Amino acid sequence: MSTTHFVPGAAPDSADALRVPMTLPRLLEKKRLREPIVMVTAYDHPSALAAERAGVDMVLVGDSGAMTVLGYDSTVPVELDELLVLARAVRRGLRTPFLVADLTFGSYEISDQQAIATAMRFVKEAGCDAVKLEGGGPTPVARARAIIGAGIPVMGHVGLTPQTSTALGGYKAQGRTGEAAARIARDALDLQTAGCFSIVFEAMPAAVTEELMKRMEIPVIGIGAGAATDGQVLVFHDLLGIREGHGARFVKRYASLLDEMVAGVAAYAHDVRDGSFPGPEHGYAIEPEELVALRAQLAGRDAG
Ligand code: KIV
Repeated sequence: MSTTHFVPGAAPDSADALRVPMTLPRLLEKKRLREPIVMVTAYDHPSALAAERAGVDMVLVGDSGAMTVLGYDSTVPVELDELLVLARAVRRGLRTPFLVADLTFGSYEISDQQAIATAMRFVKEAGCDAVKLEGGGPTPVARARAIIGAGIPVMGHVGLTPQTSTALGGYKAQGRTGEAAARIARDALDLQTAGCFSIVFEAMPAAVTEELMKRMEIPVIGIGAGAATDGQVLVFHDLLGIREGHGARFVKRYASLLDEMVAGVAAYAHDVRDGSFPGPEHGYAIEPEELVALRAQLAGRDAG
């Protein structure tokens, strides 16, 4: 199902050329061999290129893009058409990672038909390999089964599910009582039985994850769920520090790009204001005789 796409303007480096596109069988093989699966979110062409060049296994066009790049204060308001624009930009920058997109809140819950139609748009219009939907219980499980039945791979997502965080009591860790953890276990196993190719465990105790992993046959990707999962996912802007504040407890920051971006723009503003930019090296030349010709033409106009 993974597709290879020509990437305009993105000449592959030599490492890119050696990598082969990730597929569902290769993901399962990684689980079997206990090779950690690396997933990261991306929302545009540059973040996709970074993921490609870094050699990650999977890329998620997360609805977290609602906050990281579109400025909403949660994932709830983002529209399907907005996420499709981001997904298309990501697709143009990717060649080898397996590309998954989030179904936006309200774009799949109403009926199986709605869920299939939305999933198909991500595949047909944005070249995604699979879609992800949040939550367990009868509705998400039925929608997952319907989309899979239409031939599109589905990734589940349990634990903290941001689209429904209000109903979960806020943006906080889940599964911290035996009963709550058992609900997550039931949801995860139901999604596995429905045919999901993989599942995200978000913000839940590591010990709960360890219990569940004994029963999971599909690759499990964790975020704030401990080290026992088959792989990890982080939000691009969190791990690179392109955001205010530190974010959730489970975020590890590998760079402080927002600080660097501010410093770069401030240095540019300073150079414009003190006249040191642009310099001669940033401009274009004209032959002296062409300049003479220009002056003659302008003088003629002034006189006439
Ligand atoms: O939207 C997102 O970024 C996600 C990940 C946190 C798994 O769903």
